[in-house]
Amino acid sequence: MSESGVAAGKVHEFTTKSDSDTIAVGRKLAALLAPPQLLLLTGDLGTGKTTLVKGIAQALGAAEPDEVTSPTFTLLHEYEGVREGKPVKLYHLDVYRLEGERQLETLGLDDLLTDDALVLVEWGEKFRSLKKRATGEIVIRSAGGDARKITVTLKEQG
Ligand SMILES: Nc1ncnc2c1ncn2[C@@H]1O[C@H](COP(=O)(O)OP(=O)(O)O)[C@@H](O)[C@H]1O
Ligand SMILES: [Mg+2]
Repeated sequence: MSESGVAAGKVHEFTTKSDSDTIAVGRKLAALLAPPQLLLLTGDLGTGKTTLVKGIAQALGAAEPDEVTSPTFTLLHEYEGVREGKPVKLYHLDVYRLEGERQLETLGLDDLLTDDALVLVEWGEKFRSLKKRATGEIVIRSAGGDARKITVTLKEQG
């Protein structure tokens, strides 16, 4: 087996210079994200994880950017949209405040991850179980000032 056979994945990179740029990248990403997906949304506080979700939600017709806010306290926001003519459930989670796998389990992720689900998790990398189950990762890094580097890695889909 070739080396690339080991879950090489596909990598997409974007650079943005403003929040509206990042929303536009989110809109593009929606086209790449065929459900079901469980994606870790990784990056320091204020890098633009929630901002990116605004664009994804917008492209799916699930919510306007202004309607997408951080699920910091509610843990989970749920939207319904359409992608390639099929209904999509968009789940946006922020698990920063959860401590330990037991607390994570109370979210019932297994029930969320249906065939039509796009699950985007901020701070999911804190949890081993989420890292194991993730179908990909979106990493946002600050690149000075308002610039951001966005790296999307998706596992090969079977
Ligand atoms: N290039 C950029 N991409 C995304 N957000 C940016 C960018 N430049 C500045 N910002 C600002 O950074 C903040 C990102 O906030 P948010 O999306 O809530 O971050 P996170 O969810 O990662 O904590 C917003 O205030 C946004 O206006
Ligand atoms: Mg956030």
